[in-house]
Amino acid sequence: MTDPIHHLATVPRDELVSRAEADPLRPRFHFVSPAGWLNDPNGVSQWDGTYHLFYQYNPEGAFHHSIQWGHATSTDLVTWTDQPVALSPSAGPDAEGCWSGVLVNDDGTPTLVYSGRANEQELPCLAVGSPDLLTWSKVPENPVITAPPAGVDITAYRDHCVWREGATWRQLVGSGVRGRGGTAFLYESTDLRSWTYIGPLFIGDASQGDPADTDWTGTMWECVDLFRAGEGSLGSDSDDGAPDVLVFSAWDDGETRHPLYWTGRYAGDTYTPKELHRLDYGGRFFYAPQSFLDDGGRRIMFGWMQEGRSDAAMVEAGWSGVMSLPRVATLAEDGTLEFSPVPELEKLRTGHLHFGGRVLVGGGTPAVTRVSGNQLDLELDLQLAPGSALRLGVLGTADGTETTVIELSRETDDGPAGTLRLDRTRSSLDPAVDTEDKSGPVPMPEGRVHLRILVDRSAVEIFANGKPLTARVYPTLGGQHVSLAASAGTVRLLSLDAWTMQDIFEGSRPLFP
Ligand code: FRU
Repeated sequence: MTDPIHHLATVPRDELVSRAEADPLRPRFHFVSPAGWLNDPNGVSQWDGTYHLFYQYNPEGAFHHSIQWGHATSTDLVTWTDQPVALSPSAGPDAEGCWSGVLVNDDGTPTLVYSGRANEQELPCLAVGSPDLLTWSKVPENPVITAPPAGVDITAYRDHCVWREGATWRQLVGSGVRGRGGTAFLYESTDLRSWTYIGPLFIGDASQGDPADTDWTGTMWECVDLFRAGEGSLGSDSDDGAPDVLVFSAWDDGETRHPLYWTGRYAGDTYTPKELHRLDYGGRFFYAPQSFLDDGGRRIMFGWMQEGRSDAAMVEAGWSGVMSLPRVATLAEDGTLEFSPVPELEKLRTGHLHFGGRVLVGGGTPAVTRVSGNQLDLELDLQLAPGSALRLGVLGTADGTETTVIELSRETDDGPAGTLRLDRTRSSLDPAVDTEDKSGPVPMPEGRVHLRILVDRSAVEIFANGKPLTARVYPTLGGQHVSLAASAGTVRLLSLDAWTMQDIFEGSRPLFP
């Protein structure tokens, strides 16, 4: 984020909500801001049973400027109640914006650790909350760290991951060392207000790989999120071998690239990486993720589904940015993370259709699914023969002029390797929207794939055997067809279940709840 002063015509404030709500591309069962701009999830947590979602919010318009912390609460992770803005810029260290951060429990006092922006740089700040988490006061000690580490030439410095080890707080601040790569600086404190710098937890190597690669680690790491996979806690000795996961969003010179994660071990003051993985094959469309452990011991993650349309189109639409559905992260047998949308979302399902036992042959007639809609939850169980490929179209017109295609293919040998791909070349007749190809590997033991697809107008989330691909699409013709065909080989459709998903908001939402 560079927070440029926008030079675009703004929409009058009193028109923003009605414009946003009138946009047929605005999702209806994903969380979106009342109107205006939304980016990163912040302070994601469960407190006294209630889920809290804070987010980077600009209620003045659909552009990134003078960012506040929007706030919504939920009892089920499905429907959300708008709450008053939690933090907004004020004279002092956050005069130019309250950038991303986290919520921690300081012996019963809800406390936000965030990046205050002033004079075009960000520094760590704190705010303490009322017991209901609805009223926040910035502490007089802000900024609680007054400068980035001395003597290091950094690319940027912001965003926080804060946890407790015994009586000690530890904090990571995302950054990058110029000429080397992204990093996270480690600090320690006993009171969250006075911090001792320890050193870089680990420094990435930006010279590794091609900057065009989908797993290039970038020159700066935004929104670092370190956690022990499973229910164990950071710093503790565990004998179950669960790795410590270091999630970050690779950034380069103002460009939000993609979320990645290392698996490895955090011990003492360092992190020893073992393997690097892509977090979501949609890249920048699932950016700046943040996770928390809920009361049930689930690792739940949200990400920012940014737009793929022009700045001017966002401003015109009166809204920008979608929060992903909450997804549960679990550790797969191969040591990577797997994701699935929280099961609570199933309560939005209505109008169930079920199909089973079809064989699709490459070049043959497409299956007639009778499924249609632009708010859908689809679950498929498939068996792909070696060399086969399935093409599933959503948001399509009857004649196929527009269609968004989810493609699954299996390698020609008998092995478990396959690919998930999102083909957006015909998603929209609008030539200005992003249509870049998105794809990534999916393990397919014996050719079996469980495919879950959530379509919510311009938001699409796909999970193929737990590997996610999240993206945005901008159909112009209102197509709602779902089509299914094999483009090569033989694909067995073992079952297809489809539901229409209900809206999560009723009526108009105030811009300033
Ligand atoms: C990531 C990010 C963060 C920053 C925030 C500003 O998208 O750039 O690094 O704190 O957004 O809104």
